[in-house]
Amino acid sequence: MSWESEYQSKLMEAERAVDFIKSGERVVIGHACGEPSHVVEAMAAKAEQYENVEIVHMVAMGKAGYAQPGMEKHFRHNALFVGGTTRKAVQEGRGDYTPCFFYRIPDLFTNGSLPVDVAMIQASRPDGNGNMSLGISVDYTLPAARAAKKVIVQVNKEMPRTGGDSCINAADANIVAIVEHDAPIIELAPPKISDVEKAIGANCASLINDGDTLQLGIGAIPDAVLLFLKEKKDLGIHSEMFSDGVVELVESGVITNKKKTTHVGKFVANFLMGTKRLYDFVNNNPDVEMYPVDYVNNPVVVMKEDNIVSINSCVQIDLMGQAASESIGYTQISGVGGQVDFIRGASMAKNGRSILAFPSTAAKGTVSKILPLLDEGAAVTTSRNDIDYAVTEYGVAKLAGKTLKDRARALIEIAHPDFRDGLKSVYEQRFHCKYE
Ligand code: COA
Repeated sequence: MSWESEYQSKLMEAERAVDFIKSGERVVIGHACGEPSHVVEAMAAKAEQYENVEIVHMVAMGKAGYAQPGMEKHFRHNALFVGGTTRKAVQEGRGDYTPCFFYRIPDLFTNGSLPVDVAMIQASRPDGNGNMSLGISVDYTLPAARAAKKVIVQVNKEMPRTGGDSCINAADANIVAIVEHDAPIIELAPPKISDVEKAIGANCASLINDGDTLQLGIGAIPDAVLLFLKEKKDLGIHSEMFSDGVVELVESGVITNKKKTTHVGKFVANFLMGTKRLYDFVNNNPDVEMYPVDYVNNPVVVMKEDNIVSINSCVQIDLMGQAASESIGYTQISGVGGQVDFIRGASMAKNGRSILAFPSTAAKGTVSKILPLLDEGAAVTTSRNDIDYAVTEYGVAKLAGKTLKDRARALIEIAHPDFRDGLKSVYEQRFHCKYE
């Protein structure tokens, strides 16, 4: 059968497509802004027909109807990253969090840990050969589609086509349903950047040289860093994700990817979150290559990129330099994501550097993020052995190569002034010497 006939034979409405999901099965949902919201909502609307369906998802940007109170009998949310729409479900016991480095998630789908019954994904319209691009979310979504027994695809003409390794084919034997539904791709509005974040951005930028390759996390701090890179030359991107801020630096000629060691001239990422401006930029752009996360984030791949600088954030850091980036005490607020993948990769790369950048305080200035000890119950995301630099609005603390005593001092120097005295007295007790 031609791919066209296969495509036609699998075409159906979302309401019918979700009947392929059976009680007790595990469903992996396409990631972040690439979520196939139309079929996810159709599944949630038919909740009564399911019992104990496990929903595996990372950053859930849709309505997450399956995780709402009252859905417990029908769905159980298994978060690989806890986000805004699923935090409550996990905190109230309607869901769980599964710790795993981002680059290892595809392994879970194939090594017997989390076998995939159904993958629900979103893709572009097929090209002349029946290839449909997963566009902005290749990450774990493409590996899940390849590992799944059954794939339900929401085909959307708005999904950009991206290069690299981003496609499935309409004739793939495990695709059981194709649902055509054109709708705008979920957007993430650019964050508001405060003066504190601008100061952090400027401090991070002081550690970045012409020709460096960057990995940037999500949010205001990475965007603030980009604001201070306007005078740099020939920067490159090899990142878990990137957002709108990068487009401006391409247009102004700062990001060229010319000096990269691998994928010269190309952006490499596994997912994208931003506005239509970003999605238009990547659509059919031969300079943008999207690959699954077990390639992009694999520390062994990252380490091949000379001069790579990873920039991520944390919730708390103790005076030894170990960072909690995903939980406040016992409460899981996000996930490890690709933080450690890139920190480890950068540490093995020639002239690689890793930065943890964060505001010195949280909760409207009432608590310090630099603490004598992490809160009880906090998960250590990044160990004290891994961090090269910690950065706040008050400066840069180089931790790599420093003794426990010297790193504690370096961290106190970049703490908020309101909390420095308290930290200094802990320092004096711990190290039996005066803080001078
Ligand atoms: N004590 C108490 N509350 C704290 C806190 C602390 N030390 N640190 C943060 N919070 C609160 C904030 O006040 C905020 O609360 P609100 O939502 O009520 O305003 C909430 O926790 C989120 O913190 P915020 O600093 O706004 O988060 P962020 O969006 O800047 O993200 C991380 C910061 C660390 C959570 C995020 O970078 C992350 O999840 N990192 C791990 C994953 C990763 O690095 N991935 C790689 C790149 S994508």
